[in-house]
Amino acid sequence: MSDNHLPQDPRPVRDSQSEMAEIVLPNDANPLGALLGGRLMHWIDLAGAMAAHRHSRNYVVTASIDHLDFLVPVRVGDLAILRSSVNRVFHTSMEVGVKVWVENYISDSCHHVSSAYLTYVAVDRDGHHLPVPAVIPESDEERRRYEDAGRRRDVRRAELERRRQRSL
Ligand SMILES: CC(C)(COP(=O)(O)OP(=O)(O)OC[C@H]1O[C@@H](n2cnc3c(N)ncnc32)[C@H](O)[C@@H]1OP(=O)(O)O)[C@@H](O)C(=O)NCCC(=O)NCCS
Repeated sequence: MSDNHLPQDPRPVRDSQSEMAEIVLPNDANPLGALLGGRLMHWIDLAGAMAAHRHSRNYVVTASIDHLDFLVPVRVGDLAILRSSVNRVFHTSMEVGVKVWVENYISDSCHHVSSAYLTYVAVDRDGHHLPVPAVIPESDEERRRYEDAGRRRDVRRAELERRRQRSL
C-alpha cells in the first residue's frame, strides 16, 4: 500500500479551491456564436476534478453531476471563469461545487452563468475506491455549503434507491 492509501489528516476547504479560465473560441460555439452547453459541462467537470484531486491527493472519477442551469449566454471572445472547491466529504466520495462566471473585458462586465454540484469518488490505479480525508469548513459560507451538501446527498441517495427499486 502506497503512502497516499493511508488515512490522511482533515484538510481545510481552502486547500481545494481552484480556478480555471478559458477564452471562448469559435470552435467552442454554436453557429450563433454562443458557447455550447456541452463544452461548458466539460469545463465544469475539469474544474471540479481539480478541486477533488487537490483535496484527496488521489485519482478521482465523476460519479454524478446535479441539475445545471445556464443563466446567461456566453459569447465567442468572452472569458469563462470557473471556481471550484470541495463542499463536503462523505467516505470515498466528495461533493464539489463549481461556479461559472462570464467576463467581457471590452464592456468590463461579469455575470454568473451557472452553478453545479458534482460528486467524485477517489480511486486507485485499479479503480478500487479509497477513503477521502475529511474537509474542514472555516467560513460561514463554507459551513452553509457543508450543511447543504449533506441535504443534497440525502436527495441523491433517495433518488438512486428509487431507481434501483424500479429496475428490480
Ligand atoms: C461512481 C462509481 C465509482 C460508484 O461505484 P459503485 O460501486 O457503483 O458505488 P458504491 O455504492 O460502492 O458507492 C461508492 C461511493 O460513490 C457514491 N455514489 C455512487 N453512485 C453515486 C451517484 N450516482 N451520485 C453520487 N454519489 C454516488 C456512494 O454514495 C459512495 O460514496 P461514499 O463512499 O462516500 O459513501 C462507479 O459507478 C463508476 O466507476 N462509475 C463510472 C465513473 C466514470 O467513468 N465517470 C466518468 C464519466 S463516464
